[in-house]
Amino acid sequence: MAKPTLLQAADLPDWTNAELRSLFTVLELPSHATDAASFLAQHGPAIRGMALRKTRVDARLLDALPALEIISSYSAGLDNVDVQAVKARGIVLENTSHVLAEDVANTALGLALALTRDIVNADTFVRSGQWPQRKQYPLGRSISRMRVGIVGLGTIGLAIARRLAAFGSRVAYFGPTRKPVDLEYFGDVAALAADSDLLILTCPLSSATHHLVDARVLDALGPKGFLVNISRGPVVDEQALIAALAADRIAGAALDVFEHEPEVPAALLNDRRLVLTPHIGSATEEARRGMAEHVVDSLARHFELAGPRAGRPQTA
Ligand code: DGY
Repeated sequence: MAKPTLLQAADLPDWTNAELRSLFTVLELPSHATDAASFLAQHGPAIRGMALRKTRVDARLLDALPALEIISSYSAGLDNVDVQAVKARGIVLENTSHVLAEDVANTALGLALALTRDIVNADTFVRSGQWPQRKQYPLGRSISRMRVGIVGLGTIGLAIARRLAAFGSRVAYFGPTRKPVDLEYFGDVAALAADSDLLILTCPLSSATHHLVDARVLDALGPKGFLVNISRGPVVDEQALIAALAADRIAGAALDVFEHEPEVPAALLNDRRLVLTPHIGSATEEARRGMAEHVVDSLARHFELAGPRAGRPQTA
């Protein structure tokens, strides 16, 4: 039986590429737009599956792939995908949020603790030899006594809520719909911010969540309020955040994602009230390995090809 044809639009670990090539006829999408157009005209009709990472998938690309049955993305976020257009064509869409949720939740808690206990500056304090001179380091804030608002209670938001319950924090959430959970629900994000000491953003980026956290929400969070963003940069209006920090209208933020990453505005780089990380939410060996396995396994399962391969390397 002929191997199904797969469009490779993802930068995946080498072992994953080898597995895909053993199962599929793999074609790589050229990066240059002109080359991509003639490539799609020639090969588009034969393509039945797609391994995806960051490539933009819009109605135009889908039109060039009339036989496409499944897209499997090496990510939780699908903001590069026109999900409605995919669904309208009956194409199966896989992502990896269930594989990476625990690690992203760990990152969110790490950032929240670093922020509220000022751990990054405390490290500098010790290393720079200031401790013997100043004796006492300024007090931090207790996350165990905080009201924490989670924006987006999906797989990752729920994993964060479970951890916060163990910390003793009081947790509430905002999202488009109420979930069957024993947590207070807010249908308005500014109302959740006004009720929170710490706001953690985990929602997907879409037209509905672009700049969801704007000046109004930051003002509602208030001068003692903290913000953690592990979702996507454009969920926060970065200029509004810079203005709120400049006017001491919020206490601080921990940001793993940025509006124009990897570019980070100087106003954020120079602000010691911020903890900044380079989009490492899911960046563990274990999560990345699980994500790569899920891409291969979901594609193999869809086409009823042989199951998980023996002899997979034990590294990411
Ligand atoms: C994800 O999986 O969406 C991570 O943010 C990496 O892009």
